[in-house]
Amino acid sequence: MKHVKIAVDGPAGSGKSSVAREAALKLNIKYIDSGALYRSVTWHFLENNIVITPHTDFDACLKDLQITQEFLPSGLCVTRVMDRDVSSLIRSETVAKNIGIVSDSIAVRNFINGLLRNFALQQSVIMDGRDIGTVVFPDSDLKIYLDASVDVRAMRRVHEYEEMGKNVDEKLIKNQIIHRDKQDRSRPFGRLVRADDAVYVDTTELSKQEVIDKLIEMIKPILRV
Ligand code: CDP
Repeated sequence: MKHVKIAVDGPAGSGKSSVAREAALKLNIKYIDSGALYRSVTWHFLENNIVITPHTDFDACLKDLQITQEFLPSGLCVTRVMDRDVSSLIRSETVAKNIGIVSDSIAVRNFINGLLRNFALQQSVIMDGRDIGTVVFPDSDLKIYLDASVDVRAMRRVHEYEEMGKNVDEKLIKNQIIHRDKQDRSRPFGRLVRADDAVYVDTTELSKQEVIDKLIEMIKPILRV
């Protein structure tokens, strides 16, 4: 089987990570969650009391930082910072609050892009994020841009929180999504933008399983080439 790179980009709540992970599992290829790396770097800075501002010299803070990602046969993606499993820790509110500034940093983006390209050297991958098809792998074998209306994306987030046993305010979540969209679409480097050659999938009216099936249908023929 040839080594392929599949890029799945899209805004917060478009369902990228869950469908990309399931499709990878079904197709027996590696799934890489680039958002988890941005979360891990942010977590590492917070853990080491680094003050996060647009003027922080992040380059110096990234020295010797080691992050790995392991895709388990169960479909779980384990992210480790210096061998510590941070998969749950990186989902905190504090990380979410600080990630915007960290993701704006070109030093951080170059650091993470280097890791992502390394992860994809040995095997076929599905990678999800904001700029995979545009910056990390402009030569991807297939680019998919997942989208959905703001209301539907906000509702999906609310359900995710509910499944974790947390009660959240729908309006607040919707506003957070609008804010994240604005931040993700306006950053100077690696901003969220649909690549010209990406297949656009509007998931507003689709169930998770329907999106997974669509992805598998698109990827299968590429793996056979
Ligand atoms: O919550 P969601 O799954 O939508 O986000 P995520 O994929 O975990 O990514 C969290 C944040 O990391 C995004 O809002 C971006 O600020 C940043 N990010 C990025 O800048 N570039 C990427 N390729 C992936 C994530």
